[in-house]
Amino acid sequence: MAQVRDQWTTRAGFILAAVGSAIGLGNIWRYPYVAYENGGGAFLIPYFFALLTAGIPILLLEYVLGHRSRGSSPISYRRLSQKWEWLGWWQALLAFVISTYYMIILAWALSYTWFSFGTQWGEDTESFFFGQYLGSNQAEGFWDIGGLQWSVVIPVVLLWAFVYFVMRRQAHRGIERMARIMMPILIGMMVVFTIRGITLEGATAGLNALLTPDFSALTDPNVWVAAYGQVFFSLSVGFATMITYASYLKKDEDLANSGLIAAFANSGFEFMAAIGIFGALGFLATQSGTEVEHVVGQTIGLAFVIFPRIISELPWLNSLFGVLFFGSLVFAGLTSVVSLVEPSVSAIRDKLGVARTTAVNWICGLAALVSLLYATNGGLIYLDVVDHYLNSYGLLIGAILMAVATAWTTRKIRDLQAHINQVSDIHIGNWWVLCVSVITPLVLIVMTGLNIVDEWKVPYGGYEISGLLVIGWGSLIITVIAAVIFQRLAWKTDDALTSHEKEGA
Ligand code: PHE
Repeated sequence: MAQVRDQWTTRAGFILAAVGSAIGLGNIWRYPYVAYENGGGAFLIPYFFALLTAGIPILLLEYVLGHRSRGSSPISYRRLSQKWEWLGWWQALLAFVISTYYMIILAWALSYTWFSFGTQWGEDTESFFFGQYLGSNQAEGFWDIGGLQWSVVIPVVLLWAFVYFVMRRQAHRGIERMARIMMPILIGMMVVFTIRGITLEGATAGLNALLTPDFSALTDPNVWVAAYGQVFFSLSVGFATMITYASYLKKDEDLANSGLIAAFANSGFEFMAAIGIFGALGFLATQSGTEVEHVVGQTIGLAFVIFPRIISELPWLNSLFGVLFFGSLVFAGLTSVVSLVEPSVSAIRDKLGVARTTAVNWICGLAALVSLLYATNGGLIYLDVVDHYLNSYGLLIGAILMAVATAWTTRKIRDLQAHINQVSDIHIGNWWVLCVSVITPLVLIVMTGLNIVDEWKVPYGGYEISGLLVIGWGSLIITVIAAVIFQRLAWKTDDALTSHEKEGA
């Protein structure tokens, strides 16, 4: 069956969608905390190193893979060699699994946008979040999943319904239009938020905490691991998202330039969010007469325990500040979550030749069902474990395999470089080939090795080993098996495929 391929209206539409994908929870609630924990101002050194040698080069690699084949990720890898098709499936499936818990955090943010009116979380924001809102005190031990927590189920279902209606439409009418509407609003909200954050009393204390460099951190390998993890997650690379988005570009569209714009917009947003958030943390520390280090919680706690306290302490218009913060999380997250679902929608359509709406019905329906697993009393633990394994192992191993697939086994990296240079104003040199084929995989292999050794000694998060094996490694292994199965299925859209393969031959 011939398929009409989705296409962005303009290059600007593509860039907006790509920036919409990149700017997400990673920028607002993950970056500030990761930077603070890993050397403050000194974190910028590993951060920029990772961005320039790995983040941007791999971003461009994804762009070119998608643009060259103008097909979903399985087709893009298959065009390198039939043997690599599974990698495209694997990365798309990892993205799918991420979407199932990413949406949970959006659901919390949506609830908290509502709770901001009249600061409904009360005095003890910690027991409000973990106890009353998540009900996690009702589950005991790793395997006690408890019952469904309706305060989370309801917003999650609402959000999936919204995403479903956006995704049913073709990419330029759904995803692109959403990005065109939401991104300007988001940036506006964040600018107001940051200005308010840094003008609060005591803000400088927070900024000092964020920016004071601790150079000794640079000798700690974990700081480098954190930098790579942050850059990849934040730029949305490693999960087939950018392959899919770039495949919807017209034939002769600039890639290099678009990549640089997207990358710097993403980092700029991250820095801005961090400044606003740490300004607000400085305010809280000053109000409670302590140091900033005593008020910074962990990522989850920072957004849902500490921020509510800050909002309650504000002298005026506190509900508005809450809506700005939590509303930004929701907006930023929605334009990202669609980009986590789109790779599998696109892959299924290409392989099985089904209509977009059919693929979306199945995938959004399944994703919403899986989400409910985390909308339970015990769900927080599973969310934490799956997130850790997917992002520390799935992401990094996938990125290593990308290098192996393009540079080492099929040796197509020069063709890919030539394709980028043919369509782009900025020409990329051999540094790109060097970064993609040697530097990045080497660093990632060392990092993954160190990670495995570390966690061999101390299991992640102090959870029980059986739990980590089943939920953590289990989710990685299941996605690999599913990827291999998908590779083996017969192509139903052979006209789309063979035209690519003929071109490629
Ligand atoms: N980049 C998004 C964020 O910062 C998350 C994401 C990762 C989206 C990978 C798509 C693919 O939150």
